[in-house]
Amino acid sequence: MKRTTISELLKSPKTGEEVTVQGWVRTFRSNRFIALNDGSTINNLQCVVDFEKEDEQELKRITTGAALQVSGELVPSQGSGQSVEVLVKSFTVLGDAHPDEYPLQPKKHSLEFLREIAHLRFRTNTFGAITRVRHAMIFAIHQFFNDKGFYNIHTPIITGSDAEGAGEMFRVTTLDLENPPKTEDGRIDVKQDFFGKEANLTVSGQLEAELAALALGKVYTFGPTFRAENSNTTRHLAEFWMIEPEVAFADLHDNMDLAEEMLKYCVQYALDNCKEDLEFLSKRLQEEEKGKPEAERSMELIEKLKFVAENDFVRLTYTEAIDILRNSNPNKKGKFQYPIEGWGADLQSEHERYLVEKEFKKPVILTNYPAKIKAFYMRQDDQLPEARPGMTVDTTVSAMDILFPGIGEIVGGSQREERLDILKQKIKDFNIPEDHVWWYLDTRKFGTVPHAGFGLGFERLMLFVTGMTNIRDVIPFPRTPKNAEF
Ligand code: 4AD
Ligand code: MG
Repeated sequence: MKRTTISELLKSPKTGEEVTVQGWVRTFRSNRFIALNDGSTINNLQCVVDFEKEDEQELKRITTGAALQVSGELVPSQGSGQSVEVLVKSFTVLGDAHPDEYPLQPKKHSLEFLREIAHLRFRTNTFGAITRVRHAMIFAIHQFFNDKGFYNIHTPIITGSDAEGAGEMFRVTTLDLENPPKTEDGRIDVKQDFFGKEANLTVSGQLEAELAALALGKVYTFGPTFRAENSNTTRHLAEFWMIEPEVAFADLHDNMDLAEEMLKYCVQYALDNCKEDLEFLSKRLQEEEKGKPEAERSMELIEKLKFVAENDFVRLTYTEAIDILRNSNPNKKGKFQYPIEGWGADLQSEHERYLVEKEFKKPVILTNYPAKIKAFYMRQDDQLPEARPGMTVDTTVSAMDILFPGIGEIVGGSQREERLDILKQKIKDFNIPEDHVWWYLDTRKFGTVPHAGFGLGFERLMLFVTGMTNIRDVIPFPRTPKNAEF
């Protein structure tokens, strides 16, 4: 018995041949038509049984969700929904799925309900499509960097450092939480912990990637990162995957070029390789938005992806953005929850969305943010931004954030501070003990060079490419506050 996947079989259908397929029943109509899916494609294979010839008890076992092996002749289909079908000669039910108990019946289930049965949601069209697109995007990213001569490096998952300095870390410990060892002054004695010091799950592989880039030239990481931020939004996960390239002898402009090229490459890769899944996801999105007023509906998914792949991103500085936002209608009319008064405030997602969705209607790369609202490692700009009337400005850094329509920030990055004296001062200003980052400082002591890198939030890319609106639906098992089931 040679098994064929449904994908192979539909790609070059050899009618007249005997085929054997294995999959799961999606529907069984009129005691005759089985729609079989094996995960290799969004498309089901229609298998036609002659119920008069089959045992009635066996036919009863063909229910939604049951696993089946089917053999028969591949013939042109009489029906309109498909080009070929299988005339079943024999079938075996490999695994039953009792219809009174199996939660996935052939009807529309809400995404909220499916999150509660994330162990089964792979079996729906939507999650099958998302999972295949996710694979394609992982593959595209490795392809992109490999073709450009980058080396993939594994950075540690357990670390002693807080790369982003945001303090949103998950503690890793083997100490007895009921009865931890204490020092004389009553504090927890971390020296007795597994690593002999405080350890956490990493928030970013950047600092270690920099160490590698300053020897290998061009590297990238693609790993899980963890943030204990208590934000229950549709854009945040406590465990997400991040791609972090780091390039020696590169500045902010090289960094922007690389990020824009990578994002376009991924989007084009999806268009070229995930056509059927994207068509399905596009229809799903249109269906979901039917109830919305026309003006609030998003651009058709495939149109939107083509638009991003083919058009240049807008590039502007934080200072220019503040100018635009200050003079914008929603700001003047008091529509922003956080009004833009002056220079220096962090941009909220309402501001980012205004720039991307109303002002430019394109992806936007914002650069040269105030030093005070960005991480310690970002390179201090040599000049102050040009002050606008009624605006006090301060030192900026060579940071860049890429903002995407419907998503907000998808990439965050910067040129890195390569000058030892300035970096030491920054570390002091940010209250980072020097002995925590002595190894990082060594790279600036020995053969330092300008270098730059960024982090792409993989699930945010997935949101954009699939048109899904909740980040919990583009990772198989989402980790969010109060939720670590499965
Ligand atoms: O902007 P962030 O915090 O930057 C860094 O971590 C840098 N070390 C990256 C670098 O320069 N190598 O995070 C980078 C990206 C964000 O732009 C966003 O897409 C994503 O990671 N991200 C999250 N995605 C999902 N859930 C969260 N809680 C996220 N926090 C950040
Ligand atoms: Mg950021």
